[in-house]
Amino acid sequence: MSAADAVREDRLWQRHVDMAKLGGTPKGGVNRQALSPEDAAARNLLASWANARGFSIFTDAIGNLFVRREGTDPAALPVMSGSHMDSQPTGGRFDGMYGVLAAFEALEALEDAGIRTKRPVIAVAWTNEEGSRFQPGAMGSAVFAGHNKLEEMLEVKDWKGVVLKDALAETLKAAPAPMREGRPGFGLDGYVEAHIEQGPRLENAATTIGVVTAIQGSRRYIVSVAGEEAHAGTTPRAARKDAFAAALRIAQAMYEATTDADDTLRFTIGRVEVGPGSPNTVPGSTTFTIDMRHPSNAVLDAHEDKLGRIVSTHAAPCTARIERVTAVPPTDFDPMVVDLVRDRARSLGLTNMDMPSGAGHDAMHVAQLCPTGMIFVPCERGISHNEIENATPADLAAGTRVLVEVLTELANR
Ligand code: GLV
Ligand code: MN
Ligand code: MN
Repeated sequence: MSAADAVREDRLWQRHVDMAKLGGTPKGGVNRQALSPEDAAARNLLASWANARGFSIFTDAIGNLFVRREGTDPAALPVMSGSHMDSQPTGGRFDGMYGVLAAFEALEALEDAGIRTKRPVIAVAWTNEEGSRFQPGAMGSAVFAGHNKLEEMLEVKDWKGVVLKDALAETLKAAPAPMREGRPGFGLDGYVEAHIEQGPRLENAATTIGVVTAIQGSRRYIVSVAGEEAHAGTTPRAARKDAFAAALRIAQAMYEATTDADDTLRFTIGRVEVGPGSPNTVPGSTTFTIDMRHPSNAVLDAHEDKLGRIVSTHAAPCTARIERVTAVPPTDFDPMVVDLVRDRARSLGLTNMDMPSGAGHDAMHVAQLCPTGMIFVPCERGISHNEIENATPADLAAGTRVLVEVLTELANR
């Protein structure tokens, strides 16, 4: 039996169903934010499946969770596959979780087919990919790859002021795993991540496999506007320093400055906080987040300059500043892995097309370490970061068949 033939659609689907109960929402999605009790529950469930199959598990200082199937050459660097188990606050059942469960299914398929690989194959669940609770996102893989410093990430606070290292300690207490000592990161010979597309192109083209060639660059910012709190009933307009009104002017100018003719630049204000948040007090502070993405770093640089100028020219009579939280450059995946994904999709008789990724993924950081690629499968109407996110058991299994064939090839190099 080939590894692809050993992939079991029913098992893979049931694992998604079981995981979706952890943080499940009434609308059918999940709220399983990074380092929450629900995240710990997902870690425990994955670990229990790994133990049942005799795979070893371990974690590292940023909480990445690894499931390892040994190879025949103890000295050979491993190949790895995976994604994330954390979700958006109103997230779907497949974003990230599919990549973890596809990687785990690949390990099980190799086991069931009795295939020994030269290199170990590792399935990974990266910590905090979403970055909705703790910023920046893709944090576990960023620390693993040396893009962000462990010490700085451990001090990051969520929106309620909870420090990441405390949430991580709670999570690892609730979901213990042997700790790999030292800095996160170890040698890898290859990495492949499966993910739902999160856009409509595959579905529109009636195509099963996206051969991912690249990920666009992304940046995050926080804009903080400072005004002066005042009585809503008595303070005349001329005397007001209304931080929300200034933030609105800034935001409006930013939307205009980021509306490009070819609709390639992605600009999102996804979170606004108005302080003190009382109906009858003129807001003294407003902060908002910016998520901006484009395939070209030069375009991102140019727009970053524009955003900075807008903040300084549109704030009066308030004051405002913009702070860059993350910058991840565009990633081109390794042609060897991209070709292998395309080739294996073809051999399995699956329709496929090359495409870049609009969303960020842990693979963008791992690509700095070793030959890396990604496999996309369709999701219904391309909807993601939404509780109604959906995908078919058949497509999930098809992507996993490609994955296990690619991993087998890489693990025998
Ligand atoms: C990941 O979810 C992203 O925002 O690209
Ligand atoms: Mn994801
Ligand atoms: Mn996501």
